Amino acid sequence: MAETVQIDFTALKDAGTAPKGRGAKSSGGTLVVLAGADLAMSEATRIILGEAADLVQRAATTAKFKGMSGSALDILAPAGLAFDRLMVIGTAKKPAKDAPPAEPDYVSLGGAIMGRIGGFARVTVVFDLPESPDAMGEAAADAMLGLRLRAYKFDLYKTKKSDDDDKADVKSVISLAVADPAAAKRAARHRDALAEGVTIARTLVNEPPNVLFPAAFADRAKELQKLGVEVEVLGEKELGKLGLRALLAVGQGSDFESKVVIMRWNGAKAAKGDKARPVAFLGKGVCFDSGGISIKPAGSMEDMKGDMAGAACVVGLMHALASRKAKVNAIGAIGLVENMPDGKAQRPGDIVKSLSGQTIEIINTDAEGRLVLCDVLWYVQDKYKPKFMVDLATLTGAILVALGTEYAGLFSNNDELSGRLTKAGEDTGEKVWRMPLGPNYDKLLESRFADMKHVGGRHAGSITAAQFLQRFVNNTPWAHLDIAGTGMSSPASDINQSWGSGWGVRLLDRLVADHYEG
Ligand code: BES
Ligand code: MN
Ligand code: ZN
Repeated sequence: MAETVQIDFTALKDAGTAPKGRGAKSSGGTLVVLAGADLAMSEATRIILGEAADLVQRAATTAKFKGMSGSALDILAPAGLAFDRLMVIGTAKKPAKDAPPAEPDYVSLGGAIMGRIGGFARVTVVFDLPESPDAMGEAAADAMLGLRLRAYKFDLYKTKKSDDDDKADVKSVISLAVADPAAAKRAARHRDALAEGVTIARTLVNEPPNVLFPAAFADRAKELQKLGVEVEVLGEKELGKLGLRALLAVGQGSDFESKVVIMRWNGAKAAKGDKARPVAFLGKGVCFDSGGISIKPAGSMEDMKGDMAGAACVVGLMHALASRKAKVNAIGAIGLVENMPDGKAQRPGDIVKSLSGQTIEIINTDAEGRLVLCDVLWYVQDKYKPKFMVDLATLTGAILVALGTEYAGLFSNNDELSGRLTKAGEDTGEKVWRMPLGPNYDKLLESRFADMKHVGGRHAGSITAAQFLQRFVNNTPWAHLDIAGTGMSSPASDINQSWGSGWGVRLLDRLVADHYEG
């Protein structure tokens, strides 16, 4: 996507200098400052405002602006300032009852700032708070990430700009003025990699299914080669020879060839033996899910172009890891298929033999994701002996019933991995909620004709789907994230206005950064 923002860091002491000096003719420059509860502002902010501090005070009283997060004060042609516009953005959060005040979420704050200044040509943000913990280097880098995530826009296929979109073509040049710009720049490298990764994931999810069919998706994954990622694309012939028949069965009604893409980032070069074992991320990549012979109703079927959000996340994550040269060996593996009704499509009642050797009775061809993943799980586990496997999949509508769009469902055979994912979720805001697994759920998959059927019953649909996947995992620590509620079509937020959210890139990058590097 075309980036509509350019962001750099400058020193606080330079922030008071308007683009063309005091009293210059309209230069379009905007000054943004931050204010906490009751208009609390940092010392540096007050100095930059100078005489205009009085103006802010008066305007705030008139507008009943109290510095609360989500509110802003917009002052045009502020007297005494060499900017054309002064915006005060509130940062104060109402403290949750009985909870200690939470650390400010600077990524969201950056997103909220972008929400206010989108379309402004030149902006200086005085990024300083009274309670600033340090030189605000990390915080400013987080804000930069939030600004970029909020600015993301998918308009590739719009040939006309709509009326209220007259700002759309403006490229915003934003300076974040911070106490220690050098520290911010250092911290920004990691966030740049994340912003790119999330952007890639979002765009893959937003792309239409006639453009992003499996081979086209694989081509996008190949672009990771530029960053030093080894990318291997397996086509139907190779997959057939290897025996990924469950995956192939899903794609057999489609005119597009099914693909499996394996991405390898070898960032832990010095690691030897057991330590060198990779971590593995797997994604469901159903480029379009019509349901197949068990065809879906027409309403909202177009949303099923996003049924590859798991695979999109894996590509975005691998991009982020490689781009920031993460000291980890990581495998990304995605199963890319299209699920279509056809004379050659698989039928309910079919029995397929998976790569693991286990046979599966097909019940409902709309439960295709688990068939794709079961073979990819087995393949990765067997071939790469990973430290752990995390799979992401828009697997069940039932997870939306259970958790809505707030949390992704987490299913795991390992408490440590679960705990780490839960913590990374709290830290990044990409939250996961652990759901149960157990033998009584597993029983629901017993089949009269084959080793198992691939759909349980009416109840606990997300759990029986996970239970099915677990039949293809041996002792490898494994976690399954059901992202049907979070990967696409989730409500807009401070940092995301896009249909495809890019959910999971920041979560899993954090998991790696916190536990599996160095
Ligand atoms: N891709 C869908 C799940 C889905 C639903 C994702 C809504 C995003 C939003 C999946 O392949 C599917 O169709 N699952 C079925 C399973 C059922 C047939 C057992 C479902 O959830 O209804
Ligand atoms: Mn389906
Ligand atoms: Zn699906």
